[in-house]
Amino acid sequence: AKTYYHNFVIKETKCTRLCATKNILTVNEQFPGPTLYAQRGDTIIVKVFNKANTNITIHWHGVDQPRNPWSDGPEYITQCPIRPGTDFTYNIILSEEEGTLWWHAHSDWDRATVHGAIFIYPKIGSSLPYPKPDKEIPIILGEWWKSDVAEVLAESLLTGGDPNISDAYTINGQPGDLYNCSKKDTFKVMVEYGKTYLLRLINAAINNELFFGIAGHKLRVVGTDGGYLKPFDTDYVMITPGQTMDLLLFPNQPFNSSSKTQYYIATKPYASAVNVLYDTSSATAILQYKNFKPNKLSPSKSPSFPTLPDDNDTNSATDFTSKLKSLASQEHPASVPKEIDERIIITVSMNLLPCNNTTPCLGPQSGRLAASLNNISFQEPGIDVLDAYYNQIPNVYGEEFPQEPPFYYNFTGDNLPRVYLLPKLATEVRVVEYNKSVEVVFQGTSLLASENHPLHLHGFRFYVVGRGFGNFDKDKDPQSYNLVDPPLENTVGVPKNGWAAVRFRASNPGVWFMHCHLDRHASWGMDTVFIVKNGEKPEEQMLPPPKNMPKC
Ligand code: C2O
Ligand code: CU
Repeated sequence: AKTYYHNFVIKETKCTRLCATKNILTVNEQFPGPTLYAQRGDTIIVKVFNKANTNITIHWHGVDQPRNPWSDGPEYITQCPIRPGTDFTYNIILSEEEGTLWWHAHSDWDRATVHGAIFIYPKIGSSLPYPKPDKEIPIILGEWWKSDVAEVLAESLLTGGDPNISDAYTINGQPGDLYNCSKKDTFKVMVEYGKTYLLRLINAAINNELFFGIAGHKLRVVGTDGGYLKPFDTDYVMITPGQTMDLLLFPNQPFNSSSKTQYYIATKPYASAVNVLYDTSSATAILQYKNFKPNKLSPSKSPSFPTLPDDNDTNSATDFTSKLKSLASQEHPASVPKEIDERIIITVSMNLLPCNNTTPCLGPQSGRLAASLNNISFQEPGIDVLDAYYNQIPNVYGEEFPQEPPFYYNFTGDNLPRVYLLPKLATEVRVVEYNKSVEVVFQGTSLLASENHPLHLHGFRFYVVGRGFGNFDKDKDPQSYNLVDPPLENTVGVPKNGWAAVRFRASNPGVWFMHCHLDRHASWGMDTVFIVKNGEKPEEQMLPPPKNMPKC
C-alpha cells in the first residue's frame, strides 16, 4: 500500500456568485476543494494549516479509519478545533473502501464550501466490476447563500427558528444557467459519442436531499458510499446529503442536423417536509458533445431540462432508494451480520424548547426549534469526547444514551402528545462492547414535523437491511429484512414517517459520531456518539494518539 501526502491551507477567499461577492472558506483557494486519489488500502496524510480567522476541523466522510478515531475530525467529538494560525496532520487510513467518498469541514457549517472528492481505485492487479470508464468526472452538488454561512447558522440559533433558505444549489460550485449572473460560469462536461464516463456524484448540500439527472440520457448506478452496487439504469437519482453515487454515463444521442449538442445536467430539491420552507430552485450544468457542429440552418435550440420527479414526490424518491443492492459477488461479498447481539431503537425527532434569555423565541409556536435522538438533544461538550474517554476525564459525557425510546407511542401518528415535544438536553453516548453485532433501527416520528433524516455514522459502513413506513414492528418487520444483498452505506435516509434498520459489527474501537446529515438538524441536537470498546488483543485496540492533537 502507498502513502500520499497533501497540504491543505484553509483560507478566506473572495468568491462571486449570483452577482454578489463574499469571503468563503476554501482549501488551497479552491472551491470545491482538491480531489484526493488513492487505491484500496492506501494511506493519505493531509497536513491542514489554518490560515483563516475561524476554528476548523476536517472529516473524511465514509472512511472507516480502523482503530484511528484521532484523525476522524468532528469538532468536540474526536478533537478540539484547529485554531487560527495552527496546523494538524490527519492520517487517513483506507481499508476496504472502493469507489467515491469525500472530505468536508466538520465544524459548524464550514463544510458549505470546504469539501472535495476522494476517488478510491481497486488495488493494482484487481479490476473494476463494471466497464472501465474513458474519463471520470466529480459532480459535487452544493448549496449557496449570498450571505455568510456562519451568520445564517448563528441567526437561526439565536432566533430559535428555521435558518434562511439558500439562494442557489450548485454543481461543482456553480449555480448554472437558470440563475442571475451565472450563465457564463456554468459547469460544462465535454463528452464524445460512444465513450463511457463515470460521474462521481456527491451531495454536499447543507440542508437538502436532491434529485439529479441528465436530459436525454440514462444513468447506470454502479456504486454508493465507497462500495459497489448491482448495476441498474435510471432516469433520475435521489441523493441525501452525505451520500455518494457512482454513475456510468454513455453519451449515445444521435448526430443529425436537428439534434441538440447540449443537454442539461440538473439537480433540484426533494423536499419531504410539508411545512418547512426550502430553496425551490434548480442548478444546472451542461453536457456538451464534442466533434459535432450542429447544422447552422437548424433552429438553434436551448438545452432541454431532464425529467425529474416533483419536489415532494416521495414515491419516486423511495422507488430509487429501494433499487440499491450490494454487488454481493465473489470478489465483493456482502458480509451482513445474520444474527445480532443487540438492537438499539432510536427515535429521530424534531422538538420544541421553551424560550430562554438568550433566544428571543421567534420560532413556531413561540418556542425554539430543537432536534433529538431518543429524545435526547445532544449538547456539544467543551472538551472532545475522545480525549475524555481516552484520558478518563470525568463530567464530559454520560453513558446513558437509551437502548430504546424513553416512551412508546404511535411515533408516526397525528396529534401526538405534546409532552414528548420537550427533549432532554445532555451529552449522552452509547457504549458498545468490541465486536458485538449491532442493529440500529432509526424510527422517524411526526413530533412537530415529519421529514426524512439522513443518519450518518462515523467509523463504519452499515448494511441497510430494511426500511418501511409507519412504526417499526420488532416482531414482524425483521422477517422481511434483506440479509443477502442489502446496500452498504455510511448514510441512510430514514423515510419520513417511517423507519430504517442497519446492521454492522462493532469491530472498530474508538469514538464515533452519529448524526443527521441535514446540518440544521445536527446543529439542533440530532446527534449522538458510539464508543466502541477495545478488544483483548493489541490489534483490536485503538491506536495511540498522535502527539500533536489540538488542545481545547
Ligand atoms: Cu459527512 Cu459527520 O459527516
Ligand atoms: Cu434530520
